[in-house]
Amino acid sequence: MSLLRTIIETANTLLCRLKRGRRVVPAPHPGDGLVKLNLGCGLAVCEGWLNVDASLNALIAGWPHSLLKIMYRASGANRYYTLEQYTGLLGSHRFLHHDLAFNLPFPDNSADFVYSSHFLEHLFREDARRLLAESLRVLKPGGICRICVPDLAYAVAQYQAGKKKAMLENYFFVEDRASYLARHKYMYDFELLRDVLQELGFVDVRRCSYQEGRTPDIAVLDNRPEETVYVEAAKPAQSSGH
Ligand SMILES: C[S@@+](CC[C@H](N)C(=O)[O-])C[C@H]1O[C@@H](n2cnc3c(N)ncnc32)[C@H](O)[C@@H]1O
Repeated sequence: MSLLRTIIETANTLLCRLKRGRRVVPAPHPGDGLVKLNLGCGLAVCEGWLNVDASLNALIAGWPHSLLKIMYRASGANRYYTLEQYTGLLGSHRFLHHDLAFNLPFPDNSADFVYSSHFLEHLFREDARRLLAESLRVLKPGGICRICVPDLAYAVAQYQAGKKKAMLENYFFVEDRASYLARHKYMYDFELLRDVLQELGFVDVRRCSYQEGRTPDIAVLDNRPEETVYVEAAKPAQSSGH
């Protein structure tokens, strides 16, 4: 199974590379008329959002139920979800298969909200910085970006409390040999995240609490309250060239 997953992951990576130049115009959700982007969504998705991920799951979302059933094991989703949960999520939500290390495939000033949970640390620092710059570009003036990441300060506290192995395995050397996407490539605390957001031109950068802030649906989207730093930042209302 591990060899099969490695082959599938490699094919998936190549496909992402082939598709990286494309452009997508995200349709506003018919319910609230807003464009809401959930970056690095995994299967933590919500009605009304366009969910973007490079995983195989995002690629096969919307496939017939019989094919999703076959992919359930091959994708590794059987470790976390029942078959019913898996096919339900992939059958009823909007997904876009895209490698976020490259860019955001959306036009300037096209999104009201950008949300990302436990994803930014899966990109190399420079790729993450570029993605935040891309988020600023695609947000409408006054749009909000909410970034949630495992808190480096929490991880260090775990280490200092003697939970050394758990700290290393959960935050620094995430072991999933078959998946490049699962690995952590950088870590942030509030100050590190705030500084990069401000340097890029975001304003009103605030630390938020779990399920508290200006982003819709965070009662559904926010997770892992103990270990997470939640930050919201806004695109200036009068955009200066982004
Ligand atoms: C730890 S999961 C987080 C999922 C979800 N957002 C949550 O809060 O539970 C990280 C997600 O990032 C995705 N990912 C990692 N690298 C990526 C990349 N370069 N482009 C797009 N998605 C990526 C993985 O496929 C995975 O779904």
